[in-house]
Amino acid sequence: MRIYLIGFMGSGKTHWGKKLSHKLKIPFFDLDAVIEEKEGKEITRIFAEMGEEYFRMLEKDVLYLMTESHENFIMATGGGTPCFFNNIDYMKGRGTTIWLNSSVECLYSRLIKEKDKRPLIRNLSDEELKSFIIKKYSDRKIFYQQASVILPEEELTLDRLIGSSFHA
Ligand code: S3P
Repeated sequence: MRIYLIGFMGSGKTHWGKKLSHKLKIPFFDLDAVIEEKEGKEITRIFAEMGEEYFRMLEKDVLYLMTESHENFIMATGGGTPCFFNNIDYMKGRGTTIWLNSSVECLYSRLIKEKDKRPLIRNLSDEELKSFIIKKYSDRKIFYQQASVILPEEELTLDRLIGSSFHA
């Protein structure tokens, strides 16, 4: 069973992925962490030194590599993963995609405290961050909503996630 958790930065993919992995006793992978390990660099450095285009190629390669080499996992993808190349179709063809759909307000209140780790938002003022989230969320929704299961923040519990993981 391959479970891909997708959603905006700050939607809790890593947090919930770890819990789900523990409960289902299936390995957990954080796609960003695997990329960092393979490159020997943090995501912010990859963006700064090589640019976003390079990062997106790498992200796709590592997504394919991890998928092809593992039959069972829970994967926390990056916020942009489903939005580039044909990654959303690729993931849907190989497992279950679950969108953790948090509201813009909720994302803002979380991301405001965690800007530094994220290259796309680290240099934004609080005001700019709000506009960035509104714009990016609306651009990306078209990809996120293709997920096999959509879990709005207010319905997000471990039990719901477990049930969603067995969605055919
Ligand atoms: C990104 C989200 C990040 C990371 C990179 C780009 C994005 O992952 O992949 O900084 O484009 O939304 P998280 O969603 O885990 O923060």
